[in-house]
Amino acid sequence: MKSISSSPAKAILFGEHFVVYGVKAILAAIDKRITVTTTKTDDDKVTIRSTIARSSIPISTQYEKTKEVFRPFFYIAKKTIQKHSFKGGLDITIDSHVPSGVGLGSSSACCVAASSSIMGLFGNNFPDEILKMAIDAERTIFKETSGADCTVCTFGGLIEYDKKNGYKRLDVKPKFHLVIANSKISHSTDAVVSKVKKFKEKSDVFSNLCAQESELVEMAIKSLKENELVSLGKLMSQNQNYLEQIGVSNEKLGSMIKLANSTSFGSKITGAGDGGCIIALADESNLNKTMDVFSNKNYECFSVKIDTTGLQHKIES
Ligand code: PMV
Repeated sequence: MKSISSSPAKAILFGEHFVVYGVKAILAAIDKRITVTTTKTDDDKVTIRSTIARSSIPISTQYEKTKEVFRPFFYIAKKTIQKHSFKGGLDITIDSHVPSGVGLGSSSACCVAASSSIMGLFGNNFPDEILKMAIDAERTIFKETSGADCTVCTFGGLIEYDKKNGYKRLDVKPKFHLVIANSKISHSTDAVVSKVKKFKEKSDVFSNLCAQESELVEMAIKSLKENELVSLGKLMSQNQNYLEQIGVSNEKLGSMIKLANSTSFGSKITGAGDGGCIIALADESNLNKTMDVFSNKNYECFSVKIDTTGLQHKIES
């Protein structure tokens, strides 16, 4: 019996970093997916395979002692095996169509798909429990996660999210495309979040920006609901300005933003920054032109739509 789960990746439209300190963020699940397949085995090991790595780890191992690349998967597997007093092992295969370490939530999508696949093998398909396990698993490598990424990967669509009130689906029929361009500079979310924490501790600028970001997010929700792409794009560019002020942009990202703004409605970093991807807002009128400005300069770029299905799970015999 195979338990197969697939989770969308995500883009943060507004509010990364500020969300860690309680500000509301807006996130979108995107139509790029990670699939995790789990089967039971007779040995006492958790075997984890992906295109980049493979390892068989004895179940008796402490999860803290495993390599970071395997740790969330091992954590979920061990917890589930113990909960069900299962006597065998698990074989977990990851198939990703999401570049990792570039702000598209590949680690969260992995945690969500793995939680669903592993827990689903034991008959547990409750989204809230899967989400909780996914966030706990992500915390084994990134303690400060706001939980926003795993939430949008689980439920799909467009959501608003804050740490206190959790998530709310935004009742919007998106009429836009996002162009995603990759700087190819990989980042560690943990390291960038620590850098922002230091910035926050040494100046009042951060708390002022939190207040401004909160106002901006409310305006963005209004523009999204009215499908007002011109004003939405301007708000994205304003959000980029706040991200620059907290120090998570750099020269390369800045020049990509300039390129994007020459054709799209507006653009910003998505995710932790210091590298990773930028997103540009477009519709049919400027999508091709926006793709072209990046392809002409040899940037990896692609356009995505909002994924409305979220996490999917099936059992195959
Ligand atoms: O770069 P990513 O995909 O890991 O996104 C991080 C988003 C942050 O707001 C910086 C952190 C968080 O947990 O929300």
